[in-house]
Amino acid sequence: MPANTSSDLQLSPLSKGETMPVLHLALLPEQSQFVAPIDQMIGETDPTVDFHVGTVAGEAVAFFKIDRDYKSKISTAPLDACGFEPNDLGLRGMLVGAQFQGRGYGKAVMAKLKSYLCSRYQARHVFLTVNCRNLAAIHLYRAGGWEDTGQLYLGGKSGPQHIFRLTLR
Ligand SMILES: CC(C)(COP(=O)(O)OP(=O)(O)OC[C@H]1O[C@@H](n2cnc3c(N)ncnc32)[C@H](O)[C@@H]1OP(=O)(O)O)[C@@H](O)C(=O)NCCC(=O)NCCS
Repeated sequence: MPANTSSDLQLSPLSKGETMPVLHLALLPEQSQFVAPIDQMIGETDPTVDFHVGTVAGEAVAFFKIDRDYKSKISTAPLDACGFEPNDLGLRGMLVGAQFQGRGYGKAVMAKLKSYLCSRYQARHVFLTVNCRNLAAIHLYRAGGWEDTGQLYLGGKSGPQHIFRLTLR
């Protein structure tokens, strides 16, 4: 049987009541400054936050959250200067499990993200913040079509963050 590749990755919503399939997604110690551990992330009960999972051959390899009330979560970020419009979304907690990193799964999530989100949300844009020292994620987002707004968010616990924007429609 051929080995699974990153092109086999599928994105789907993850119900808050059924988060067991992502619990094995590990985080390297040096990455804990950039995202919270998976058990903490799936504990978020905010009804304006949706969970999504990337799976390959039925196994979860990636997780992210879509925040429909992003602006209120990072109220000190200069989102208006970044072109934030009503109903725009925030992407938070993007994680490829440490045991699956470096296999192209992050790129596969990015390749499918725009059409996936377009089919589920009416927003024009998605925004995210990424720590200025998180070179792997910055590289991933840039290559995935995200635009650096040139603005910084200074409210993060681990230092300044770039504000990136993806145009959906
Ligand atoms: C960032 C992350 C999602 C990337 O996922 P991944 O599956 O390992 O990424 P891929 O295998 O698809 O590789 C994507 C690209 O990043 C590059 N990359 C990997 N590590 C890198 C590093 N330290 N510096 C620069 N580029 C790096 C890869 O070379 C590849 O680029 P290329 O194809 O142009 O060579 C993953 O490392 C992760 O989950 N990190 C911890 C959580 C995190 O920081 N999330 C972002 C929060 S904003």
